[in-house]
Amino acid sequence: MSTLIISPGPLLGHTTVPADKSITHRSLLFGGIALGVSRVRNYLDSGDCRATLAAVRTLGIQVEEPQPGEWLIHGRGLGGLHEPETVIDCVNSGTTARLLTGLLAGQDFHSVLAGSEQLRKRPMGRVVEPLRMMGADIAGRDRGRLLPLSIRGRRLTGIDYQMPVASAQVKSSLLLAGFYSKGLVVVREPGPARDHTERMLLAMGAPITRRGPVITSEPPKQPLHPLDLTIPGDFSSAAFLLAAGVTVPDSAVSISNVGVNPTRRGLLDLLVEMGADISMDNWSESGGEPVGDLHVRHSELRSVTVGGTDIVTLIDELPVFAVIATQARGETVIKDAAELRVKETDRIATTVTELRKLGAQIEETPDGFIVQGPTRLRGARVDSHGDHRLAMALAVAGLLAEGATAIEGAECIPDSFPGFERTLARLGAELE
Ligand code: S3P
Repeated sequence: MSTLIISPGPLLGHTTVPADKSITHRSLLFGGIALGVSRVRNYLDSGDCRATLAAVRTLGIQVEEPQPGEWLIHGRGLGGLHEPETVIDCVNSGTTARLLTGLLAGQDFHSVLAGSEQLRKRPMGRVVEPLRMMGADIAGRDRGRLLPLSIRGRRLTGIDYQMPVASAQVKSSLLLAGFYSKGLVVVREPGPARDHTERMLLAMGAPITRRGPVITSEPPKQPLHPLDLTIPGDFSSAAFLLAAGVTVPDSAVSISNVGVNPTRRGLLDLLVEMGADISMDNWSESGGEPVGDLHVRHSELRSVTVGGTDIVTLIDELPVFAVIATQARGETVIKDAAELRVKETDRIATTVTELRKLGAQIEETPDGFIVQGPTRLRGARVDSHGDHRLAMALAVAGLLAEGATAIEGAECIPDSFPGFERTLARLGAELE
């Protein structure tokens, strides 16, 4: 187990962040079922994405790396995947497991999905249940609610499905299954879950429609066009640097080339509402996604209440948002975020437990947390619980806290942000 020790101090300077994780996963899966060679530049080489890379290779898709950071994905068309000879290991990646379940349910072969101890605890029923309504033949532990899953591929039927929780993984899984179904797949989402799947598949010529919260999919009449895209920086990785920049006195950080898709940038909008000195320029578009440079400096923040459909637009940022809230004046309330309990860890419980060790005034509620601020945090020994986003949120807290903070279990950080420590050090952080 590796321990990251971090001392207080500002972040100063200019940086980039690694590529978007959600888009990297999708480029492999969608590139694999396109007909022809997809070119993907600036992919994310993280633990989670390596699981998807290995999975598509096991399904018979050749992926080359002609130069560092670039993939050529030799797509074999919608019917071109091969029956895997071995179990597909999704490791820690929920996106890999859930999107693959939808893609594999309609194939004419059998496959088995497995995962790490952490992933084996995460709910799969949310994709298995609607897929079964479409006729999928899926067996697994706890009646198919948990990995490993055995998927006997078969032709599916359409569905009109109201998702109980806003989830991009569930939405994407069903839209992919729609390519192999006899009728229309209609997905109704209760909140604006990230829409990278819709953007990418539409760019590939897939028969996807979207009207507000209603998205449909059906079997394409033409092969999907291969992708040609440059993946922007991951907003969810930039979030840790934004959080440090805005809360640690004397900080000023610029991050270039960050994806600022409206379904992902909830934290940005919230920081503005709290009074943060934050700006965006150099707008462009990359791979059908809006991209910009972000600039942030230390600011006095006011507390806020966040809930409802805003939650899904900052779901992965909530652990680090709890750290931000410790520095805002007043009571910050996060509600309607029970989804946090089924992420890599129960992020309500783990965030509250670990931030309390640093002296935060934070209270757990069934669907979120309540934070009183501002508080001067004190360095302590804390635990990542094997959760990359919690580990990085604690590193931000370490930049704020008096004395040294030791984060145990820091080896999970490259699940989403390889080079995190190096990036912090370049911006002036003192770490060992
Ligand atoms: C993701 C969707 C979100 C997010 C996860 C990545 C994706 O999960 O939390 O980190 O790439 O589709 P849910 O779909 O469970 O909301």
